[in-house]
Amino acid sequence: MLNLNQLFQKIKIDIKKSKNKEELEKIRIKYLGKKGILTFYTKNLKNFSFEEKKKYSIAINEIKRKIIVNFNKQSEILDAIILNQRIKSEKIDISLPGRRFENGFLHPITYTINYIKNFFFKIGFESINSPEIEDEYHNFDALNIPKNHPARDSHDTFWFDNNRLLRTQTSNMQIRIMKKEKPPIRFIFPGKVYRNDYDNTHTPMFHQIEGLIVEKNINFSNLKWIIYNFLYDFFGSKISIKFRPSYFPFTTPSAEVDIINNNGQSLEILGCGMVHPIVLKNVNIDSNTYSACAFGIGIERITMLRYGISDIRYFFENDIRFLKQFKYN
Ligand code: DAH
Repeated sequence: MLNLNQLFQKIKIDIKKSKNKEELEKIRIKYLGKKGILTFYTKNLKNFSFEEKKKYSIAINEIKRKIIVNFNKQSEILDAIILNQRIKSEKIDISLPGRRFENGFLHPITYTINYIKNFFFKIGFESINSPEIEDEYHNFDALNIPKNHPARDSHDTFWFDNNRLLRTQTSNMQIRIMKKEKPPIRFIFPGKVYRNDYDNTHTPMFHQIEGLIVEKNINFSNLKWIIYNFLYDFFGSKISIKFRPSYFPFTTPSAEVDIINNNGQSLEILGCGMVHPIVLKNVNIDSNTYSACAFGIGIERITMLRYGISDIRYFFENDIRFLKQFKYN
């Protein structure tokens, strides 16, 4: 009897010490299994007298019962530990940002072009794309920029041969559209232009949007109204605009518009004017009946001003860190 009690104390400790269900199961088999110690004791009872048999089998059964109680208790404890570990490891952190696919987004230049187009669509303009390879006539001659005209020098033209070139301005489209369409004409021409120039405000390729209106009574104040409204729309009404007289061979009078930034520096962003009678004559439009105004906006310039970009070359370096800043345009 004493041995049985000591044995039970030991089993109890073994059960308590078991760290997982496998260990616990081994303990159960060791003591209660077919070849287990307590089973062995029960089998051995046959060697005892009837009275002793009775007494010991009651004691053995009682110990077995107590072992099972302890066993079940430990099993529950281990189950709780396992559950807790699972809860911890499978915990969902709802504050973590979700996994998502990155969407593409527009390049800031494309965004600006679309923005400008939308503005001009609202006031009745149409937009067309136009060829970047041009001839001397449409890029220069017809625009009243004859050979040897000093204005040609400032364009640093890329020539293919002695007639074909990469257009230096979108003004070429004034000629093409006026030859093709009958007034009234109200068009914008966005596109790439090329000049052999490279520094923090010049790249060999950049973008312009040309605008052209040919109507019976269009005048300089109409042109100013359009330009002011466009610039206030694009930059907001706090922007400071300077309209100053200028010279372009294909317009008269001509003006340039500067935007004055927060540091008081001015940056030229567009040229404009009333289309020169010689240009109208070149495309067979009677300047006594029709008048025309035109403007050419530098897309990179106004995009730089709008976002505070200091170097035009950032637009074309394809540095994803730069481009990503325009994700939420
Ligand atoms: N084509 C000129 C340039 O590239 C800009 C310009 C000036 C366009 C006056 C115009 C205009 O339509 O009227 O510098």
